[in-house]
Amino acid sequence: MKLLRLSLLLLLVVKPPNPCQSKRLVGPFSAGPSGRIKGGEEAEVGFAPYQVSLQPIVGYHNCGGAILNENWIITAGHCVENFVPALVNVVTGTNKWAEPGAVYYTAEIHMHCMYDKPYMHNDIALVKLTQNITFNELTQPIALPIRPVQPGEEIVLTGWGADVPYGSALEDLQKLTMGFVPFNECFETFNRTSNMGVGHICTFSREGEGSCHGDSGGPLVSNGRLVGVVNWGRPCGVGLPDVQANVYYYLDWIRSKISGNDKCYY
Ligand SMILES: *[C@@H]1O[C@H](CO)[C@@H](O)[C@H](O)[C@H]1NC(C)=O
Ligand SMILES: *[C@@H]1O[C@H](CO)[C@@H](O)[C@H](O)[C@H]1NC(C)=O
Repeated sequence: MKLLRLSLLLLLVVKPPNPCQSKRLVGPFSAGPSGRIKGGEEAEVGFAPYQVSLQPIVGYHNCGGAILNENWIITAGHCVENFVPALVNVVTGTNKWAEPGAVYYTAEIHMHCMYDKPYMHNDIALVKLTQNITFNELTQPIALPIRPVQPGEEIVLTGWGADVPYGSALEDLQKLTMGFVPFNECFETFNRTSNMGVGHICTFSREGEGSCHGDSGGPLVSNGRLVGVVNWGRPCGVGLPDVQANVYYYLDWIRSKISGNDKCYY
């Protein structure tokens, strides 16, 4: 399994990354001939106003994320693991990560209390900003889910991830509509890998499409609600489902963190 974070980050992390971690994919993978999120297409301006780009240094896209409210961002754990808040700059309000609508700074990083325990599980984190986000047409929060995703529902992935494995981030935000893959079907497809658990949700469209490096931490939205955060997959668009953190499963943890509670829910 590969994680979708860009290798650029390896130069910037505070602690040396562990060898396992570099296998994870950050963000949705994309690598088709028509490529972007592999096999995706350019998103219209304002299509995903909740989308953010996490940048260790402003000007370098690392991961995606989504705005939950005025001062909280959600992303994948592997996107912010080993980072100090000063290396998590949050770019909002733009379809071009290199042309920020605004840049916000991070006050606190909250990894899931069971991040990577077991390996590849609970890959979700919350980032609290130093300042409230100013909302506008291009900058809006995304609602949390109120029920699990049902078979047949469409899920939209957005991200600046590469169109080839380990490729660089694309300039313009891409989108890709995917289907929901029931847990058992996905689990069997991956031969019951221990890297998958109850906190994961799988998505798939077709071979040649999927999340890719740089999409990690980014949002998957269904019926106007955030249902997934890009976790891992086999890069990129090789015909297997992508595996995401299931936001519905983590609702209690998310709500308790945002309200200042430190209880560990999983
Ligand atoms: C920031 O947003 C929160 C939540 O809406 C609000 O309670 C608080 O007053 C805001 N702070 C400032 C400085 O605007
Ligand atoms: C699952 O196992 C089969 C049989 O060994 C193999 O062909 C297939 O590639 C495996 N699937 C994955 C996703 O690794």
